[in-house]
Amino acid sequence: MLHLFLAMAACVAAASAGTLPPYFTPCSASDPDLDQCIEKVISSGGPQFTDGIPALDIAPLDPMSLGRLVINNPALKLTFTDTVVTGLKGFRLNSYRMHADRNKATIDVTANVTVKAHYVIDGKILILPIRGSGPAKIKITNLNIVIKYDFDTRDGHWVVTNYKDSYKMDHAYFKFNNLFNGNKELGDTLHKVMNDNWEPVIRDIAPVAFQEIIKVCVDECKKLFAAVPTAELLRL
Ligand SMILES: *[C@@H]1O[C@H](CO)[C@@H](O)[C@H](O)[C@H]1NC(C)=O
Repeated sequence: MLHLFLAMAACVAAASAGTLPPYFTPCSASDPDLDQCIEKVISSGGPQFTDGIPALDIAPLDPMSLGRLVINNPALKLTFTDTVVTGLKGFRLNSYRMHADRNKATIDVTANVTVKAHYVIDGKILILPIRGSGPAKIKITNLNIVIKYDFDTRDGHWVVTNYKDSYKMDHAYFKFNNLFNGNKELGDTLHKVMNDNWEPVIRDIAPVAFQEIIKVCVDECKKLFAAVPTAELLRL
């Protein structure tokens, strides 16, 4: 069972051609404080893992390219294209916990994140009509993401079988350039309303983006585990 824990640690480390990268120091399987050891591994190796590993087809997490995102609410249609997320490299690990007996683990991280995209918007935000297209930027302070996942080992490789996520944040700041064809007065009014009421606004427009950010992180970690056998993640 213990080797599974080490596989978790590797989630944030990088490897090429099935070998562990130098910035990853595997924990000892017999470490009585394994959670803490893995926390150190994630904190020290994680930032480099966010650069991606081309040899393993692992995409960078910072910058993270999300491409096209469509928000289709009854009152609002919003499309982001060429969506790019930055800031995850500077993440802070709050905690990592294994529940080995139940094949479950929880990772809790916080990062300051910026989402940039080209937007097309049409509909209503809060009760105000909004329309326009141009460059958009959303800055999120202390985005806190908690991922609880189930794992298994198959053919000597660690597999994430399921996960649940939750997120919250301290603040979101919106900048949509060129609202209303560049009408400054209308644009300024909308920005003030959006930024004064960032919580309902982010609830309306951002769940798709957050779900996608979390999915990419999980998917890239899955690729690492598919490429590197758990036996190489162990120090027995
Ligand atoms: C995010 O930025 C604020 C300052 O704007 C800072 O206090 C905080 O520690 C940062 N959070 C992280 C996770 O780096």
